[in-house]
Amino acid sequence: MTLATLQWFDRRSMTLATLQWFDRRSMTLATLQWFDRRSMTLATLQWFDRRSMTLATEGRSMPDDPSFSTQSIHGQSVDDPENRPASLPIYQSAGWVFRDLDEVDAIYERRAPGAIYGTDGLPNILALEAVVAKLEATDAALATSGGMAAFLATFLATLSHGDRVVASRDLYGNTTRLLDDLKRFGISTSFVDATDLETVRRDLADGAKLVVVETISNPRMRVAHIPKLAALAHERGALLVVDNTFAGPYHCQPSILGADVIIESVTKFFGGHHDLVVGAVAAREEILGPIRTIAVRSSMVPGAFDAWLAARSIQTLEPRMERSARNASELASWLAGHDSIRAAHYPGLADHPDRDASAATLRRGHGAMLAFEIDGGREAVNRMLGELSMVRLVLSLGGTATTLSHPATSSHRALSKTQREALGIHDGFLRLSVGIEALDDIKSDLARGLSVLA
Ligand SMILES: Cc1ncc(COP(=O)(O)O)c(C=O)c1O
Repeated sequence: MTLATLQWFDRRSMTLATLQWFDRRSMTLATLQWFDRRSMTLATLQWFDRRSMTLATEGRSMPDDPSFSTQSIHGQSVDDPENRPASLPIYQSAGWVFRDLDEVDAIYERRAPGAIYGTDGLPNILALEAVVAKLEATDAALATSGGMAAFLATFLATLSHGDRVVASRDLYGNTTRLLDDLKRFGISTSFVDATDLETVRRDLADGAKLVVVETISNPRMRVAHIPKLAALAHERGALLVVDNTFAGPYHCQPSILGADVIIESVTKFFGGHHDLVVGAVAAREEILGPIRTIAVRSSMVPGAFDAWLAARSIQTLEPRMERSARNASELASWLAGHDSIRAAHYPGLADHPDRDASAATLRRGHGAMLAFEIDGGREAVNRMLGELSMVRLVLSLGGTATTLSHPATSSHRALSKTQREALGIHDGFLRLSVGIEALDDIKSDLARGLSVLA
């Protein structure tokens, strides 16, 4: 039984006997409330229940002689099943029916559970938010239409004209560009090397509202020392915003390490099957409340089907992450020793520059993302792609299949050539999202691709 139901009972001063009876019946709270508003007795309710009637049968019926169009609209009514479905149904509905204005007030004021609109209170969105909040270990979470919507809602709710942001220079290209876009609204961003804590400390001395970093950076695989960055941000009264997309909560729970706002592109490992675009923000309720208001007000939320698909996929997050991270660790060591590879980047490699940060920030391994560099630029990349049969060029990540991407022409295309070169993202820089296929199959496909570079 939900806390809201219990609170409703409490507000009505109902007896424990009624509560226990209700609990045994699997009757919905809406039915009970309908009875209550009519001051019906428990005896009437029990009579109603013995006949296995549902409240839907109490609803409106069609006119005596309905027209063709009325029948096509109202002729689809069906009683709710008496028992519950084993899986949460897809609530593909933009509007919800209210019995009267008192029910509208009660649901708006959160005195009774219920949905208001397709963007507000939709059960599939609530289910997704509940599981994301649990996995991120935060009070609450907000589901958004994508990872970038999660960022925009956060920026709109926390920043005003004249504010300053300190951000890692090593971010997903669109996050960098979104921060650049905020200049038009009088919000400036200083981009720093977030792995150099002294630089971050110096930059924060000028004051900032937010510090923005990625747990594992896209695409250079640098790892943020979240506990130390949180301490630095908090010393200066700033909030630490962490994009946790590459690690996901399986490898890192930034809130436990001191981060204030966690952004996830649910499109990636949470979704995990290359078939949806959804985002999420997780935070303490006092921070998340205004972010949710902006996102719901501007419809920056997912549709029912995408929210359902994301929540369904999260059920297998742990086995997928466990297997793809194990594959990635093996592949990173193999690629690092391969003759055709100029450099390999993976937080689990012994020569990775952020070993201390990884130990403080990551758990259960080092994730399923890695990057490597080859000589020969664009032409060599195309030659290699021509030899691959299983690993395909896909401009996303985090799915069951191993995929390659080329940051210079995709995730970091929005940056200038100079900005890319400053980050070391040249035309021979490739990013690999490792899937859950058999390791030997991934390895032999990549080996075939790399063989043409010798
Ligand atoms: C690290 C990171 N953050 C955010 C995003 C944006 O997420 P979405 O595509 O769900 O809007 C991406 C997309 O690739 C990403 O890689």
